[in-house]
Amino acid sequence: MAMKLNAINFPSPKCPSFALPPAASCRSPRFFMASTLRSGSLEAETVKKPFSPPREVHVQVTHSMPPQKLEIFKSIEGWAEDNILVHLKPVEKCWQPQDFLPDPASDGFHDQVKELRERAKEIPDDYFVVLVGDMITEEALPTYQTMLNTLDGVRDETGASSTPWAVWTRAWTAEENRHGDLLNKYLYLSGRVDMKQIEKTIQYLIGSGMDPRTENNPYLGFIYTSFQERATFVSHGNTARHARDHGDIKLAQICGTIASDEKRHETAYTKIVEKLFEIDPDGTVLAFADMMKKKISMPAHLMYDGRDDNLFDHFSAVAQRLGVYTARDYADIVEHLVARWKVENITGLSADGQKAQDYVCGLPPRIRRLEERAQGRAKQAAKLPFSWIYNREVLL
Ligand SMILES: [Fe+2]
Ligand SMILES: [Fe+2]
Repeated sequence: MAMKLNAINFPSPKCPSFALPPAASCRSPRFFMASTLRSGSLEAETVKKPFSPPREVHVQVTHSMPPQKLEIFKSIEGWAEDNILVHLKPVEKCWQPQDFLPDPASDGFHDQVKELRERAKEIPDDYFVVLVGDMITEEALPTYQTMLNTLDGVRDETGASSTPWAVWTRAWTAEENRHGDLLNKYLYLSGRVDMKQIEKTIQYLIGSGMDPRTENNPYLGFIYTSFQERATFVSHGNTARHARDHGDIKLAQICGTIASDEKRHETAYTKIVEKLFEIDPDGTVLAFADMMKKKISMPAHLMYDGRDDNLFDHFSAVAQRLGVYTARDYADIVEHLVARWKVENITGLSADGQKAQDYVCGLPPRIRRLEERAQGRAKQAAKLPFSWIYNREVLL
């Protein structure tokens, strides 16, 4: 019963399907009802508790991958050593946040900060809401490293394991760590945002964790990360474009540089899934369809600032309106992955595999049709205050 309720996730005009957290994290009465079914205490679930962060309440599935698949997965460890680790950049060749920020040890520090703040003054509030949301998403990195370490055959068994998967995960995390760091420092210096509210949101978000429904299964896990790296590439690319339009070339450079890291990570993750398609086409197409049916939940869908119960929906609505990340992007990403893995051309599939193939190949136009219908029903946009910008109001 709870499963059935949790499966409901239609696009709405304000919250495109990509933006909707899995139904479980919505705080509508229906979803409280879903969790109530398990807890058996209607009172406890429907009374709004102050300062209670959202949490996953869907049924959480673990270890869905059968042992023979684990063996298949383990067989590509040598391949990963030679083909995946090459997508990491040596630390000495990596950019660091400090390359893009005023140097606190230099005489010109105060002038550089002043210039940064002058440029930031020209940027509208709605842009800052989206940039803050993106930064908070990056800052919940402990959750994503944890997620990778839930995957069977992938997890870092000791914290310093020398398997290629563990080496990749640690180095990927270390690269990603620069993203939140850079955006956080930039936003702090800009003087445009309420840092304490932002810091609270990060603390709540890391505390909430997330279950992307990858079930400890590396097939599902790497399909999820392929999608996510592409999504962050698109969204940081768009914040770069907007910053340039607002005349802030340096901020455009910051966002563009982060986007290019995401692209490199996308290349690595999609290559892993490409390999899985090569050695196990049936299992991989089934996993792809399964992940798409469950919908890709956004990494920060449980975000909360201690005030707004629907903060992620509101942030997503602004991102959608500005064109930083939209339902159309979600459909484009699915289409891109279908083409990247040449799903249409796979032959020799089982009956279930063929069904899964038809499903994923037909998905992008279906998402677009749903989105167009939702747009047609869209009501007049509302304005809402965001605590991240001192409760100034922004159009959703
Ligand atoms: Fe990132
Ligand atoms: Fe990334």
